Amino acid sequence: MTPVTEATHALKLTERINRIEPSATMAAAAEAEKLRQQGIEVVDLTAGEPHFSTPQHIKDAAIAAIQANFTKYTAVAGTAELRDAIAQRHSEDFGSGYKREEVIASVGGKHVLFNAIQVLIEHGDDVILPVPYWVSFKDIVNYAGGKCVLLHADEAQGFRVTADMVARLVTPRTKLIILNSPSNPSGAVMSPEDQTEVVRFAAERGIWVISDECYVYLNYTGREFSVGSLHEYRDRILVCGSLSKTYAMTGWRLGYALAPAPLVSAMAKLQGQSTSNPTSIVQKAGVAALKGPQTCVKEMRSEYIKLRDHVLAGLRSIPGVQCTQPEGAFYVYPNVSAFFGRPGIKAAADVAGKLLREAHVATVSGEGFGTTDHIRISYATSQKVLDAGLERMRKLFASL
Ligand SMILES: Cc1ncc(COP(=O)(O)O)c(C=O)c1O
Repeated sequence: MTPVTEATHALKLTERINRIEPSATMAAAAEAEKLRQQGIEVVDLTAGEPHFSTPQHIKDAAIAAIQANFTKYTAVAGTAELRDAIAQRHSEDFGSGYKREEVIASVGGKHVLFNAIQVLIEHGDDVILPVPYWVSFKDIVNYAGGKCVLLHADEAQGFRVTADMVARLVTPRTKLIILNSPSNPSGAVMSPEDQTEVVRFAAERGIWVISDECYVYLNYTGREFSVGSLHEYRDRILVCGSLSKTYAMTGWRLGYALAPAPLVSAMAKLQGQSTSNPTSIVQKAGVAALKGPQTCVKEMRSEYIKLRDHVLAGLRSIPGVQCTQPEGAFYVYPNVSAFFGRPGIKAAADVAGKLLREAHVATVSGEGFGTTDHIRISYATSQKVLDAGLERMRKLFASL
């Protein structure tokens, strides 16, 4: 018999898990947590989530669901009630008119994207991805065996992606284009005209468009828009939505896709062999969020606009820091390259590292989002916390 050695026990992981990296945003938050555990008071500006509490009527619906024993499995793609509520909310807000079979509810927007990309992308398929990108897009595509073709947005144009920029990268290998407007991390918003042109161009060539609209209700341009409203091109569009940011429900884990019924069915097949349905009581909370008063969404949005203006003015007043004006979401993405070449600083990661270790301000370095000159700051926090962070940054940058 072969003796059992250390080598035979060595952990041999799959090639596909080694293709992806841990989430940079989660890693940055974990670093901040480590310092906190040492008793250091950290100003944490890494959070990709609202600082607001989930509105009371949504919490009440979940509590009522538990009391009513709504605690069993549901249909994999979500209850009919929830799927209808998702379709109805979207129709009311964007005139889309999706039907129940074109809706799937999943365990957060990230889960929607994971399922969709697993179902659409074969090994070697090209996926056009605008840079800066939200950290998970690249890794989800890599996990599926796809190849990201990076579209570098122009900082001088506020990182806005245009249809021309997308069209220039399309080849016969292009299977999918990912749009994310408003964008995490840049806050850039694509114009409705450019989004329309991208989906028209893609549909003509049989290319899929995934439009990640997790921040669609945090669009500050006054031109709220969903590509789901473009009826004529819908056989190649998947709209990804989430209740996380809209209703301050990040921990509840509820997202959805609006897409052609055959794609929804394929995603439900995959979901049925992994998580099954999103949590039953969360689905009831989701119905309350989508069908209840939307004033909470508007109130949070007004608050974010004030916070954005505040943090932007503060950052722009720090010598050496440059920052484009975000038009949506709740992040600013300042350029800190003016400090490269100062002692110990070669890249954005060094700036973020110094901010954390010396000023105790946690931010996320741009490398995780595909750029080398930036750090991401979340302004989904109180003005008091932002002011403390800005003051510490000002001092640190002045000392470099
Ligand atoms: C652009 C973008 N898409 C999707 C998500 C996923 O959100 P969730 O899974 O909480 O719905 C996030 C979260 O930060 C995001 O920023």
